[in-house]
Amino acid sequence: MAAVENDVRIIKADRPPQRFARGWHCLGLADSFRDGKAHAFDAFGTRLAIFADSTGKLHVVDGYCPHMGASLADGEVKGDNLACPFHGWQWGGDGKCKAIPYATRVPPRARVKSWPTMEENKQLFVWHDVEGSLPDPAVKIPRIEELFTGEYSEWIWETVTINTNCRELIDNVADVAHFYYVHGARATYFKNTFEKHVARQEMRGKPRADQQVAGATEFGGSAVTIEELYSVATYYGPAYMIDQLSSTVNGMKVEAYLINCHVPIDHDSFILHVGLAVKKLPFLDDEMNAQIAQMYAKGNRDGFFQDVAVWKTKCRIDNPLLCEVDGPIYQLRRWYEQFYVDVADIAPDMVDKFEVEVDLAKSNQLWDVEEAANAAAQAAE
Ligand code: FES
Ligand SMILES: [Fe+2]
Repeated sequence: MAAVENDVRIIKADRPPQRFARGWHCLGLADSFRDGKAHAFDAFGTRLAIFADSTGKLHVVDGYCPHMGASLADGEVKGDNLACPFHGWQWGGDGKCKAIPYATRVPPRARVKSWPTMEENKQLFVWHDVEGSLPDPAVKIPRIEELFTGEYSEWIWETVTINTNCRELIDNVADVAHFYYVHGARATYFKNTFEKHVARQEMRGKPRADQQVAGATEFGGSAVTIEELYSVATYYGPAYMIDQLSSTVNGMKVEAYLINCHVPIDHDSFILHVGLAVKKLPFLDDEMNAQIAQMYAKGNRDGFFQDVAVWKTKCRIDNPLLCEVDGPIYQLRRWYEQFYVDVADIAPDMVDKFEVEVDLAKSNQLWDVEEAANAAAQAAE
């Protein structure tokens, strides 16, 4: 009997991990929470309430009131406290109940969790750790100094809910081939470096010759040609990526910072934030600079939705079948696992330095042939 059926590759997939990653998670632009209101944020399988005290300092506390379970974010900010909408108990940013308006004594154990927070790059972060430890001082979100000098546009910030496990998003770091088929851009250089809590993707690329780059087809009434793209995208921890982008557009060098960060809502959905700040070109006026920033933001948004379209219909796969030009998906996932185990269980191969450059010479020759054939077919239509 031929063993043909036994040779079929079987896709394996466990349930996503039933815990959430340890680390800093960005909740959005800090100023967006300083409107005098409380904000509900569903994350990590629960609900958070975010509010600013009278000094403008932001606090993140557990979102459900331990008195009778009301959603605290539906309450009102009163001075430095958040007053529950149900019976008016007032909660401080440190999580302690400060007052019960109809009682003289506050029960000594009236306390909700106050989450560790910090602000960087004009964004609010919360630290999540199932072990309950305080933030690891070695795990830093780097400050982008240029954002504070006026050289860059303000953040153009967008938030979407994606209904899949967030590992799909992380896989992008090592997935070199999908740029060609999903995003219409081919990589000519691609390198990954993973070390400690940092994972980096360095890519040089250019748009496919047989396709328009999504969203970037028109600017100021004229066609836009992107000649070259250079991107250094770095995850700091499990959920916050800074992508330094530089491209040559119509002969001009355009530089930008892209933030790609997410917060898990539960094990099958996450909030994706995409922020973009573009370096102003000194020879253009504010309006033209704003147009460039918006054009860039649109291109990036469209790019993310190209990924989302794939995630919508794909299955989870724990044993991807790789060819020799695929990036180091397994090593990347091993790096990602460090955030899902107790600190005591972090294995050396999750955090040791790993570096690989994918040799794309052959792939680029094959893509040349594919693009020429496609262009010829389009011309014949
Ligand atoms: S449920 Fe919050 S005060 Fe009663
Ligand atoms: Fe992608």
